[in-house]
Amino acid sequence: MQFATKVIHAGIEPDPSTGSVMTPIYQTSTYAQTTPGEHQGYEYGRTQNPTRTALEKNLTALENGVDAICFGSGLAAQDAVMKLFESGDEVLAVNDLYGGSYRQMVRVYGQWGLKSRFIDMYTPSNVEREISPATKLIWIETPTNPMLNIVDIRAVCDIARRHGILTVVDNTFASPYLQNPLDLGADIVLHSATKYLGGHSDSVHGCLIVRDAELGQRLHFIQNATGAVPGPMDCFLILRGIKTLHLRVQRACENAAVIAQYLHTHPKVAKVYWPGFEHHTGHELAKRQMRMFGAMVSFDLVDNTLEAATKVLSSTHLFTLAESLGGVESLIGHPASMTHASIPREARLAVGLTDSLIRLSLGVEDVYDLRDDLEAALNMV
Ligand SMILES: Cc1ncc(COP(=O)(O)O)c(C=O)c1O
Repeated sequence: MQFATKVIHAGIEPDPSTGSVMTPIYQTSTYAQTTPGEHQGYEYGRTQNPTRTALEKNLTALENGVDAICFGSGLAAQDAVMKLFESGDEVLAVNDLYGGSYRQMVRVYGQWGLKSRFIDMYTPSNVEREISPATKLIWIETPTNPMLNIVDIRAVCDIARRHGILTVVDNTFASPYLQNPLDLGADIVLHSATKYLGGHSDSVHGCLIVRDAELGQRLHFIQNATGAVPGPMDCFLILRGIKTLHLRVQRACENAAVIAQYLHTHPKVAKVYWPGFEHHTGHELAKRQMRMFGAMVSFDLVDNTLEAATKVLSSTHLFTLAESLGGVESLIGHPASMTHASIPREARLAVGLTDSLIRLSLGVEDVYDLRDDLEAALNMV
C-alpha cells in the first residue's frame, strides 16, 4: 500500500461484531472470559484494548515497522524506552531537543544514575568520538526542536550498530509522511502523537514503533508493568486524525515554505531557520532523508530583545500563542520561556536558542492570511 492508502486502511477492519466501518471506542476496563483463561485475546484494559490495537497496527504500517506500542503521552513513550536501561548506562542525545525530553533524562533518570550527555550530532564522526563503554542508547531528534537542524539518521545509526548501541529517533517534527527512520536503520521511532498524527490539538498521546519483534515485546512488558496507557477515546481521536495526515502535512509544509521565504526577506527579521533554504547546513541531507522540509519555522528579530519578541508574540490573531505544534491551526511560541524553559540558559544559548527566538507551527489555513497576520505583528516592533 502507498502512504495515502495506509493512513486510511492499514490495520483497520470493519468491527467484527457489528460491521461498524469506523473503529469503535471500546470503553471498557475488562473482558468476559467463558472459563478461566478462555477469552478472545483481551483480558484487562491496561494490557490490551481493541481501539488501541487498531491504532498500533496502523502506526506499524505508517513507519514500516513490525510492532507499535501506544502510550498516554510522548513523554510516557520516552519513559518506557529509558526503562530498558539501568544505573551506570549512558544515553548520548542530540544537543537541541524538546525541553521535556531533556528534563526527563536529566532530572528523573539522572538521579537514578542513568546519565545523559547532550552532543553535537550534525557531524556523524563526532558521535563516534563521544561514544564511551557505558553508552547504550543514542537519542536522535531531527529536525531538531526548535533550531531545525538535521541529523544524518543513516550515518548515526550505522555507527551505533557497529558499537552495539540502540537508536531512537523522535520523529514528531517530521511525521511519518515526511520521514521513516526505521528504513534508515533506527531501532525505535518515537512520536508525540499529540502533534501531527492527531493533528487537531484535541488529545495527548505518544507511541513507539520498532523494527524488531522482541524489542517490541520488551516495551509492551514495560508498559503493562508500569501502566502509562492511553484511553480508548484518545486512540480513536489519533486514528481519526491520521486519516488526513498526508493532506494536512502536505499543505502545512507548503505554507511553511511561503512563510519562511517571506520572513527571510523581511527587514525586521534577522535569521530564519528552515531546512528548505539552500543555504541551510542540513539542506542536502534533508532532501535525502525527508520528503518535504517540514512545517516548523523559527526566526530571530533584528531587534534581538525579549521585549521585541514579546510584542510580536502577543500581537498575532490567527497564530495562537500556545505550547505544542502540528495541529491544523497555526501556533506561535517562545521556546525560551515555554517549550524549552527547563533547559538552562547557557545550554540554550550554546545551540543558538536566544531569548528572542520565535517558533511557528504552520497549520493549514490560507497562507496569505497567515502572512498578513505576521506582517501586522512585525509592524508592532
Ligand atoms: C519533539 C517532541 N518530542 C516529544 C514531546 C513530548 O510529547 P508529549 O507532550 O505528548 O508528552 C514533544 C512535546 O512537545 C515534542 O515536541
